[in-house]
Amino acid sequence: MASSLNNPWQRNPAWQEWMTSLMGGVSQQSLAADSESTFPPDRFYCLLDDLPLHLIPRPAVRALHRQSGESERLFLNPDCILCSNTELPQQLVEEEKLVCGFARQGTIAWVQDAASSALLPFWLGPRLDAVVRSLRQDEPVPSSLDLSDLNDDARMLLSAAAILVPENHATLRRRQLEETVRKWGPLFCDAGYAPLRSLIHPFHVAALRRYYRYLIRTGAIPLGDHQSSQRYVAYNEPVARFFHRSLTPVLSALAGEPLKPSYVYMASYRSGAELRKHTDREQCDFSITLCLDFSPEPALETPWPIRLDTNRGTVTVYQALGDGVAYRGIRLPHYRDRLGERQTSTSIFFHYVTEDFTGSLD
Ligand SMILES: [Fe+2]
Repeated sequence: MASSLNNPWQRNPAWQEWMTSLMGGVSQQSLAADSESTFPPDRFYCLLDDLPLHLIPRPAVRALHRQSGESERLFLNPDCILCSNTELPQQLVEEEKLVCGFARQGTIAWVQDAASSALLPFWLGPRLDAVVRSLRQDEPVPSSLDLSDLNDDARMLLSAAAILVPENHATLRRRQLEETVRKWGPLFCDAGYAPLRSLIHPFHVAALRRYYRYLIRTGAIPLGDHQSSQRYVAYNEPVARFFHRSLTPVLSALAGEPLKPSYVYMASYRSGAELRKHTDREQCDFSITLCLDFSPEPALETPWPIRLDTNRGTVTVYQALGDGVAYRGIRLPHYRDRLGERQTSTSIFFHYVTEDFTGSLD
């Protein structure tokens, strides 16, 4: 079968249908098999064969749409490790507790980011697993993956997850992080805050939204804490803890000094909730607020910004799903207005301290 990557939207009806479902918000795709729907909903997983498409942030879908039109030679990422069932990459063997909230089943492709060295997990169903295992490390991926009936869908999914990458992928990733630090590092050091767009992979955003929505819906996450009676909260929840660790190198690079994670807090706000102006405790010297979920579904940024009182005045930060904002939570008073009627909003607060901090991390 000839490649349709040069203009897949026009040439490949199956691919067109898939992308249409991405753009239109269909929750299931044709790649899913019955056997792949047996993942426990109270565990985190990001199954590429059966992504919750309606939960992928819309700006990311548009970016995928643009990216899919690019024609380039792809290779199996040399920094991708395939693990079956309870196997783990060597780097995680000593820290198995970090994945205790994961669905430890099937095949997990662990992709090590060339810039941050963070390991990012993507689950593969039987068909994508067969595709990946059939590829050879040093040979370009065939332009049409005729090894199954997935063809360009497989190529697009695996490419978006960086399991398939262009030859210069590692260089590009390192350059991206360097540019982020060059662009935002001075602002972070001077004013104590910096926006970090698309901080979490959009497929992981979708998987996390599904996961936390399920936990909240089933009563596994309690409502109310000392700051607000109108938010569901989870302290050091295991899956958040995994991403907490993964983000450490990025925030350290931005801060210009080595940091270590202290604690992480997930909060899902109900309409009417308000976050009064406050500063944080000493465990929150460096923080990231990740915008994870919002309803109604935002086209771009959500209408519920965080405000930070900085040495440059009050800064209002609007975030899209998957965006982070880094800030110095001890120094900068921060707050949000009342959340509107029929709106809900979920954030994860990742907190860090300098590596020489000797106080409690709790
Ligand atoms: Fe705070």
